[in-house]
Parts: sequence; C-alpha cells; structure tokens
Amino acid sequence: GSKCLFDTNIALIGFMGTGKSTISGYLKDMLALKEVDVDAMIVKNENMAIKDIFAKHGEEYFRTCESEAILSLKDCKQSVISCGGGAVIREENVTNLKKTSQIVLLTASPETILSRVKESEERPILNGNMNVDFIKELMAKRADYYYKAADVIIETDHKDVSQICEELLAAL
Ligand code: S3P
Repeated sequence: GSKCLFDTNIALIGFMGTGKSTISGYLKDMLALKEVDVDAMIVKNENMAIKDIFAKHGEEYFRTCESEAILSLKDCKQSVISCGGGAVIREENVTNLKKTSQIVLLTASPETILSRVKESEERPILNGNMNVDFIKELMAKRADYYYKAADVIIETDHKDVSQICEELLAAL
C-alpha cells in the first residue's frame, strides 16, 4: 500500500452481513487501533435506534445523519472505521472517507449474507425482505458503488476471521 497505517485509517465497507463489525473488532485488537462504528455514532447523535430512525424519519434522513457522521471523522486517525452497508451510495461519503482512510470492501455471497443477517431485527432495509432474491437485487444495484469506492477487496465466504484479517493486512 501507499500509505502507512499510522497515517491512515482502515474504513470497512460492504453489504450488510459481510462481517464489517466482526472484522473491525479483530483489526482493532491486532493493530491497537481505535474502533469507530458509523452506525453507532448515528445512534448516539440521534439518541435513537437505527430502525427507529428509519421508521420515524425515513431513509433519506438516515442517509443525511450518516453523511454528517462520516464528515465528522475528518480528523480521525489510527482507527478502523466500520461503515453502514449503504454509506458509499453517496459519493460525498466516499470522497470524505478517502481523505483519511484506505477503503476495504468486504464481500460475501447473497446466501452467506442471508445466513448471517436472518435473525437480525436491526436491519430496516431488509424488513419484510429477508430472502436471497432481494439481497441479490439490492447487491446488484449497489455493486458499482462498492467496487468503485474500494482500494482493496476481500471475499469473506467460507473463511474464518483470522484468515480474512491476514489477507486484508497483506493487501494494504
Ligand atoms: C444499511 C446497513 C446498516 C445500517 C442501516 C442501512 C444499508 O449497516 O447502516 O440499517 O442500507 O445497507 P450494516 O451494514 O452494519 O448492517
């Protein structure tokens, strides 16, 4: 990679259920980084759960909160930043993340994603849409955004966390 890890953050992007939070926890421990979770920032700022923000204010409002949270990370250093699955739909977020971070895209098959998220009640986007076809469709709609934003791409299907982290660090 071009930048040293002391100067730049690792920003994890990817569809829901690609393992961003899990990988973030491991990288934080392995590299002694700070851990920043954009969804958690939004919950704190709004004092409301993600699903309640969607229910009360709708997706566009949530996206605005998300953009503000990402913008506020402009002085963030030595951190692993875990982004919500829709964060890179807005180009400004990609631009802002790129200023401070290497962007790592985590991927998984729709089947794997479904198995990881199916018990989740915290994913309003998948409410009533907990099936492989919906996940496939949304993934296809978002694919360009994900691949365009990514500096590094790591496939996570059938791999354990340590293997994923090893690949990720080798790729940076
Ligand atoms: C979303 C993903 C969620 C959260 C919100 C919207 C999305 O984050 O930001 O529910 O649009 O893909 P995770 O990817 O951490 O589940």
